[in-house]
Parts: sequence; structure tokens; C-alpha cells
Amino acid sequence: MTVAVTAVSGHLGREIALKLIAQTDSPPVIGLARTPGHVTDLGIEVRPGDYDQPEQLETSLAGVDALVIISGMAAPEDRIQQHRNVINAARAAGVQKLVYTSIIGPEEGTRFSPVVQSNRQTEEDIKASGLDWAIGRNGIYIEPDVEYIDSYKERGEIANSAGAGKCGYTTRSELAHAYSALLSRADLNGGTFNLNGTPITQMQLAAYLNHSFGTDLSYREMTSEDFVADRSAELGDFVGAIIGGIYEGIHQGVYDRPGDFAKVAGRPHQSWDDYFSGLGN
Ligand SMILES: NC(=O)c1ccc[n+]([C@@H]2O[C@H](COP(=O)([O-])OP(=O)(O)OC[C@H]3O[C@@H](n4cnc5c(N)ncnc54)[C@H](OP(=O)(O)O)[C@@H]3O)[C@@H](O)[C@H]2O)c1
Repeated sequence: MTVAVTAVSGHLGREIALKLIAQTDSPPVIGLARTPGHVTDLGIEVRPGDYDQPEQLETSLAGVDALVIISGMAAPEDRIQQHRNVINAARAAGVQKLVYTSIIGPEEGTRFSPVVQSNRQTEEDIKASGLDWAIGRNGIYIEPDVEYIDSYKERGEIANSAGAGKCGYTTRSELAHAYSALLSRADLNGGTFNLNGTPITQMQLAAYLNHSFGTDLSYREMTSEDFVADRSAELGDFVGAIIGGIYEGIHQGVYDRPGDFAKVAGRPHQSWDDYFSGLGN
């Protein structure tokens, strides 16, 4: 059995490939990347895998039995077709199983909902592919909040529109563990699983960051409009709206759920005490 992972130039694709390679009974692992030359340190074959190039995808998936499709980054309307290109190429190349990295999120009524809906459409396309499949819906990555610590320090606070809403964050490393299980376990075929850790509030997040980095951050709730304006000023309108919409979802409680991580991974998600104790000072 040969397995492949798309977008191995990205953080999640890379983590999943590394997890698969590290398994003692590792099957042959192939990476796909839009620019293979950018991925020279994984120690595996990396083939061209541009989501906009159907023929290239089909050629690159020759000999692959099971494929992890990493959700793309394009605008929602373009993303659906990109993912269809990968699904169709996989079917044409003889791939037998698809594993898709989808997302937990508000399906309606927020600025993030168009992205969530595009992921839901890809879920439906995967189910209709005729191949074996398993779908993970990822929680929100916690790493960006940790990487943002210097900016939080400058501001002296975490300020956003989540309010008292709890967010079931996750880490890419934990996701990689879950996706390697989704790839190899036939008993999980045909399932859609929420992959997240214990939900926490922004005040709890601030406390964890304070403990790890010796900061004294407080939490302040902003209106969604103000938060979107703040994020858009730093990151541009497209990303600013997406981030604003994610926090609208947190405020609504969409990310406050226990999730299915243990069922998939065979062990609980890493605790936030454990994760944050390994960071900072
Ligand atoms: N759960 C969350 O909190 C969260 C947050 C952000 C994003 N996401 C989603 O999760 C996915 C993986 O996250 P990540 O951390 O790995 O993101 P990342 O590090 O930004 O990587 C994104 C990957 O998508 C690839 N890609 C973009 N367009 C492509 C195309 N046309 N053809 C082939 N590859 C393409 C990029 O390739 P290049 O290197 O060639 O650009 C890169 O490898 C993201 O793509 C996004 O859909 C989730």
C-alpha cells in the first residue's frame, strides 16, 4: 500500500507526512506539492500537485492507494473546483481511499460561513466519489495564538469578538496523529469526525499564555465589526473577514463541543496544561 499527502509544503501536510514516515510499519509515503522544489527535506518522493492542474494531479497520483487531501487556501468558489480536481484525478489514477481535512465551523450567518460551506461541498463530493473515504473536521489551530505572543505583549491584551464562547482548539501535531489513523483504519471509513481538544475560553487562553510566557495579558471583548476592522487592517480584507467570522462562530458556541478525537486517535487529545507547559520559558 502506498499513501500520499497533498500540500506537503504547508504546515499540516508536512506534519501528516512526518507522522506517516515515523510509523514503524510505515507504508511508502509520497508527497504532492504545488512547487515540489520547495520541499527538499522530508526524505520522501515529492511530486507536482497543483490543485489547478487536473492532468498533472492524475499523473502524480499513479500508484497511490490512499490519499490525504489537505483543504486548499483559495476563495471558497475556487476551492470547490480545486478539490474536485484532486478527487477526480484520484479516481482516474486508481486511488482507493480519500481522507479529507475539513473544518469545524459556522455553516451559516457568519463571515467564515462561505469557507465552511465550501468545505461541506467537498465533503459531499468525496462521499459521492465512489471511493472509500473518511473525513476529519479540524478544530481551530492554537499555534497562531502562540506565534502571536509578541504582538499580544505589545498590546497587553487579547482582544477579539469571542466573548465567553469556548473554542475547541487543536494542534497540527495532534491532527497529524488523527489523520494517520483515519488513513490506516478501515473501521473509520464512511465517518466524519470532529478533531479538537478540550474547549477553552479566551480568558483561559490568556491565562495559559501568561503562565508559559510570563506575560500579564487580560482579555477584552470587542464587537465583531471592530474586530474585523482590526484584523483587516493587519491582514487584508479577505483574511480579516475569515478570522472575524471564526470568532463569530466561537461567540455562538459552534466550537464548544467535545469532539471525536479519542475515537479516531485511540487516545485523548493532548491536554492544554500539557501543551502549554512545553512552551515558553
Ligand atoms: N483549522 C484552522 O485553524 C485553519 C487555519 C488556517 C487554514 N486552515 C486550513 O487548513 C489547511 C492546511 O493548513 P496549513 O496550516 O497547512 O496551511 P499552510 O501552511 O498555509 O499551507 C497551505 C498549503 O496549501 C497549499 N496550496 C494552496 N493552494 C494550492 C494549490 N492551488 N495547489 C496545491 N497546493 C496548494 C500550499 O501550497 P504552496 O506552498 O505552494 O503555497 C500549502 O502547502 C489550509 O490550507 C486551510 O484550508 C485551517
